[in-house]
Parts: sequence; structure tokens; C-alpha cells
Amino acid sequence: MTDLKIAIIGAGSPYTPELIEGLARFKDELPVREIALMDVDERRLEIMLGFCRRFAEHLGLKVVFKATTDRREAILGAEFINAQIRVGGNAARVLDEKIPLKYGVIGQETTGAGGFMKALRTIPVMLDIARDVENYSSDAWIINYTNPTGLVAEAVSKYTGAKIAGLCAGGMRPRLRVAKALGVDPEKVRYDYIGLNHMNFAFNFTVDGRPLTQEEFDRAAGAVETVDAELVRKLKLMPSSYMQYYFHTSRKLKDFQQSRHTRGEQVLMLEKEIFEAYSDPQRHTKPEALEKRGGGGYSEVALGVMRAIHNDEDKWMVVNVPNKGALKILPDDAVIETGCLINRSGIKPLAIGEVPPAVWGLICAVKNYEQLAVEAAVKGDKDLALFALMAHPLVRDYDIAKPLLEELLEANKKYLPQFFKNDA
Ligand code: G6P
Repeated sequence: MTDLKIAIIGAGSPYTPELIEGLARFKDELPVREIALMDVDERRLEIMLGFCRRFAEHLGLKVVFKATTDRREAILGAEFINAQIRVGGNAARVLDEKIPLKYGVIGQETTGAGGFMKALRTIPVMLDIARDVENYSSDAWIINYTNPTGLVAEAVSKYTGAKIAGLCAGGMRPRLRVAKALGVDPEKVRYDYIGLNHMNFAFNFTVDGRPLTQEEFDRAAGAVETVDAELVRKLKLMPSSYMQYYFHTSRKLKDFQQSRHTRGEQVLMLEKEIFEAYSDPQRHTKPEALEKRGGGGYSEVALGVMRAIHNDEDKWMVVNVPNKGALKILPDDAVIETGCLINRSGIKPLAIGEVPPAVWGLICAVKNYEQLAVEAAVKGDKDLALFALMAHPLVRDYDIAKPLLEELLEANKKYLPQFFKNDA
């Protein structure tokens, strides 16, 4: 077994230490020799390099860290390229959250008009990264947590030859909820999983092959606090917590309009605290404030996928991959979030026989939006961008979509060269 190089693109993210912790935990299964930290933000990169060295030593992980602002240098020779970028930072996120609210629609980092805007900024940069991977490390896998992860995975798999696993910690949450509610080993829990990232449902649960009773399902599904429990019982589907934006739209909109700070603003404050802690040369443990950030569980999912590929493990996990016929209601090239078999030969989505009638229309509508948004992001086509917003169930109305799009594009001008090609 050879020692590996791993690259982290967007290593200035506060999540990087979580990944280092996972690499330390599984160091025998994934023997990493070198970790290349790459970021465009030199200050954060410097802080992260210092902290990662102290943290790794504390954890007993013997590895060489290299920090660089040169993406190609980081990618060259790496077997796994972890991507966790945020184009425009959290400041751009705050605009994604606030501008839609003015038009009476939800602004959220991945869902609705906010996620749409993030996709337009992010997809061209992710395609550049993927092309570098194709050119400099063609056998490598991109392990992506950059949001919106489903759209990013779809763009990369359609427009480049790079291999990408689109991750979200949400896919394994149904397993953890059932394991906790029933007091069983998470590895024994299986389910069917249908949908897209942040638009999905788990059902047909079994523990060691035994189907769950309705009472057991209700107990586990009760942990999805964001969606009405009675509705979940009736659907007999465990929803992603993000289904709150579709099933409780007006209530959520009101919540957002009344809250003092958006999530992006809260994250900006948290990150200040987190980076102050990382900068302390005496500190070699994760700061407490990190727990207040979402994204917990990413490291586990990332390590699970990397271990399965590297060691040819035949592991079942939920990942965002091209459909390839697994889900009949969607096109073959559509990226879906679903249960997959992972080993050295790749990530294969498992066929889904049953399509729950109560929700398939919603899934198709959101995929229709996603495909239009990807095309718009790649081509810089304003009409496609408008059609994408009109296809989205949370926007839909032309009278809203048109001015909303204008304002979003204008506010993001500096991150959207593909839309402003003719501007000097
Ligand atoms: C969860 C969500 C992600 C989100 C992450 C961080 O994992 O699924 O979409 O990016 O949390 O959220 P935060 O609000 O802390 O940036």
C-alpha cells in the first residue's frame, strides 16, 4: 500500500481541522504522507497551516503539510482532492439570504433563490478546479462539500472528465436517527433514499433486514424537528430537514423576515471567534465555537468515501452521483442523492424500485430547476437563469423572478464574469 497525498482546496475553511481529525482517526486505513492546503486567502491559509500542524501533532498524525495558493501545485499527484470553497465568502451568502426576502421569497444558502445565486458564482470555479484535476491528476477523485453540492456534482460530471463524489452529511442522518431511537448499531440500518441534495426522503427502513414498525419509524422520524410530525407519519417518508422550506414555506418566510440576523451573519460572527482561536500559537485542540457551525459529520462522510475507494471496500453510502437509470423519473445525466455502492471501481447508484407518489412531482420540479441553473451558470445565459428561477417551486412567478434575477446578478457582478462578458 502506497502512502497518499491529499489536497484540500479551500483549506482556509474552518472545517479543515475536522478533516484532519478524521485522517488521524483512520490513519492506518488511509496512510496519508502529505496534505496540501490550498486557498486564495493567504491570511487564513497561514493560520490554518499553523493550527493544522499543532493539531496533527497533538493527534499523533505524522504527515507533511504544505500550504500553497497555487491550485495546480496542490492537485499534482494527489489521490483525493477535497473541495470546500465559498466563492465570495459569507459576505456573498448574506446577500443570497437577504435579497430574495425583499421579493417575498426564501433566501437560503442551498435552497431557492439563494442557492441558485450561490450556484451561479460557484460552478465556473468548480469547473476550473475539475479541469485542473483532469489535467494534473486524472485518476484522482474530487471529494466535494462545496454547496450547492448536487448542482456542483452535476456541472462537473457533465462538463469535465473528472471523477466527483458530491457529499452531504444529510444522507447518513436517517441512519443515525434510527440507530439512536432504537439503540442499534448504525451499520445495521438500511433504507431506500430518493431525491436530490436537500430535497430527499428516506423510507423502507430495515434493521438487520427486519422492517421497522410504524411506531419505530415515528420515533426515529420525530427527530426531524423542522417538518410537522403528523405529516411525516402520514407520508411514511423521513424527509431531509430542508423540506421545511417546501412544506412550511409561508411560516419559514415569516421566520426569516422577522429574524435579526441571517444565518450567514451569524456564521460571520462565529468565524471571527473560530479564527481567533486557531491563531493562538498555544492552541492545539478544536475551539468550542466550531460546534455551533453546521456541517458536522462531513469528515466522517468524506473519510468513509475515501476509505471505500482506496481500500476497495464495497461500502453503502448516500452520495450525489449521476442517475444512470437508477431513478426512472429523472434523466440519466441528472445528479441524484441516493444510496450507492462504493469501491475502487467507483460510486454506483443502486436502483430505486419504488417512487413515492406524494413527492415525485416536487423532486422532478426541483431537478428541472437545477438543470437549468447549471446550464445558466456554465453559459452565462440570462434567459436560462430566468427559466431556472421560474422552474423553482419556491420562486415560480415571472413577475417576481425577473426583478429578483436582475438584482441578484447586479449584486454579484464581480463574481459572474460569464454574465458580464461585454463589460469592460
Ligand atoms: C449543513 C448543511 C450544509 C451547510 C452546513 C454549514 O451541513 O447541510 O448545506 O453548508 O451545514 O452550515 P452553516 O450554516 O453553519 O454555514
